[in-house]
This record gives sequence, C-alpha cells and structure tokens, in this order.
Amino acid sequence: MLRKIKNNVDWVGKIDWELKEFHGADYSVTKGSSQNAYLIREEKTILVDTVWAPHAEEFITNLKKEIDLKDIDAIIINHGEIDHSGALPLLMEEIPETPIYCTANAVKSLTGHYHHPEWNYQVVKTGDTLDVGNGKQLIFVEMRMLHWPDSMACYLTGDNILFSNDAFGQHFAVEELFNDKADACDLWKQAMKYYANILNPFSPLVKKKIDEVVSLNLPIDIIATSHGVIWRDNPLQIVQKYAEWAQDYQEDQVTVLYDSMWNSTQMMANEIAAQIGRLSPDTRVKVFNIAKTDKNDLMTEVFRSKAIAVGSPTVGNSILSSVAGVLHFASELKFKGKKAAVFGSYGWSGEGNKELREILTKAGFDVVAPEMRINWKPKAEDLTGAEDIAKALLAQ
Ligand code: FEO
Repeated sequence: MLRKIKNNVDWVGKIDWELKEFHGADYSVTKGSSQNAYLIREEKTILVDTVWAPHAEEFITNLKKEIDLKDIDAIIINHGEIDHSGALPLLMEEIPETPIYCTANAVKSLTGHYHHPEWNYQVVKTGDTLDVGNGKQLIFVEMRMLHWPDSMACYLTGDNILFSNDAFGQHFAVEELFNDKADACDLWKQAMKYYANILNPFSPLVKKKIDEVVSLNLPIDIIATSHGVIWRDNPLQIVQKYAEWAQDYQEDQVTVLYDSMWNSTQMMANEIAAQIGRLSPDTRVKVFNIAKTDKNDLMTEVFRSKAIAVGSPTVGNSILSSVAGVLHFASELKFKGKKAAVFGSYGWSGEGNKELREILTKAGFDVVAPEMRINWKPKAEDLTGAEDIAKALLAQ
C-alpha cells in the first residue's frame, strides 16, 4: 500500500511484523521490521530501492495498482544487499531497459547476486545528480562502508528528503511510519541495537561521513531510512545520536558476562557485580548468563558499557563454546576504549583465563591485571579477588 511522505514522494515498502531474524540468524528481530522503498513522481517517475525477495511479488502488485511500471524512468539502488534489491529481478523482467542508478561497487554486488550484467547500470558517485523534473534533483552521496562498500544515500532537493538507506535505520515495525508516531522507548532501543550490532565497526567512518554531509549545507526536513521509522520530527536528532555513538560510546555501566557449568563461575560473576555496586553505587551493573541471553542484546550492553568482566570455566583446555562465540562476535564489532577483566573456575588444567585474556586483548579491550581463577567451587575467602577486579574496572 502506498503512503504519502511529502508532496509527490510516497512510501511503497513492506512492513513485516513477523520477521524474527535478519542476516540469516545473526540479528534477532523482536519488534518486526520494514523494508522502506519510495516512489518519486515529478516529471520523471523514480523508484528508490525495493524490498526483500520474499515480498517481491506483493511489492510489484502494489506498484502496479498505482502506476504503469513502464512509466518508471529510473530505479535508484542505494545498496545491493538483498533486503533492498530483492525485488529487482522480478521488476527488471517487466521493464528490462530501465536505468539503475547505483555506485560502481553496487554493480558488483547486484551482478554477483543476480547475474544480470546486461542490466542498464548508471554508475554514480558523490555529487552526481539526476534531474527529476519540476526543478528538483536527486543528489547522490556515496556512503562507502556504511555498511557495505556499495552503500549510497541520495537527497531530493525541493522536498529536502535524505534517502539514507541502512544508515539511521532500525529493525522496528511502525505502522504509522514516522518517528513522532512511534513508541519512543522502543525506537531508541532498536536504533541503538542496530548501531551497536551493525554499524559500530565503521564508527570512524560514520563521524567522517556525518561531517561531510553537514558540510554540504543541505537542509534536511526528512530522513527516509530503509528500515524502521522515517525521521520527520527533528530528523537531525538521529544524526546527532550517531555522532555521539561513533565516538567510542560508553555509559557509566559495567556488564558482567559469563557461562557456568556447575555454578562456580556464576558465583564469581555475582560477587564481581556486588563489589562494583558496593564500590560505585552510581554505576549501573548488569549480569548476563551468555548462554541464556540473546547475543545481539549482549552486544548492545557491551556497547553501552565502560567495562566488562567475562567468565568461563575451563573446559577442554579452553573456554565454553558459548563464551567463545560471543567474544568472536564482539571482536567483529571492534569496540574501543573499554576495559575488561576475566574470571573462571577450573578443575584440572585451568587454561580458561589465559584464553579469555588473549581473545579479549585481540578484540581490542584493555584487559586489567586482576583476575579470579579458582579451583573447583569457591569458598567465601576465595571470592575476595572480586574486589580487586571491581577496583581495576572502575579506576579512571
Ligand atoms: Fe538493510 Fe545492508 O541491508
């Protein structure tokens, strides 16, 4: 169904209330999501992005209710990932000559996915424009590595709409589309989760790109993302938030992450949390069993933290696979400026702490010296090391 965004710009995307995972099963979706595509109808008719392949038929059926597909003068593909380009093959069967405006890298990703090198690609780069008629233009801005090498945004003059694609988005279904209509608590939670789990590795580029876009001095009335809300109420609030999140973001929070076989490592986790709470009552302390918590939520908590403590018992001369998996994910997200401590119980060989220390150091954490490494089940006097860990994590 078509929804008006502003003047001759309409939303033609898909709200998916049932989506539960994204990027395979790498990203949990708890509040639905959307793939936002847009139709600009000035003297020229321009389609900005499409939807994910499972919704392609529905997308094209809905488009046909509004326009003759042959009236589409150009398709803008801001990013080749399947959730935005998935309806292209079906669309191009109907209008095979239609020019597709995209970056040089998007030609590679689209050809790689769909194997149609003959499509009428029109490669654009930052500053290139496309006249849409009635005195309006689309200006293209490459968004390299935000979050793929092929990513791009475009800006519609006159209406002052930035079509930002993945940037500033959230996996969040909002029937009313706009940020001022969304549940603000859910919106900011989902926006942070999206940034922490998808964009954080590219934070140095986010800051540079925001500076570059600001220097273009383009008035922005609307940021039309490709997932979640369209920002029309103070749209720059999400840009300001990204600028904040991109600078090694942290709050006064310490997060304790562990998995445990027979509760010994769990006892250490709880004691470390208690000592942090005792020494610094204003600090928010959170404790998570890694094996029982959504990994994307864990990464969001790490993103918010100034320090973490990670515990695993020694098993198989190493650490539990649940802990190893989550730390591998954390290393991909390239967190910076955060302290970490390690702890764990062991029965026989006890290599777990060493392994945790190595993995966390390689992942970019500043691993503090104090640790808890306890043979079998801790007695009360064994847990005194938690205070040293707490002090080291809280030290400025
Ligand atoms: Fe929403 Fe990078 O795809």
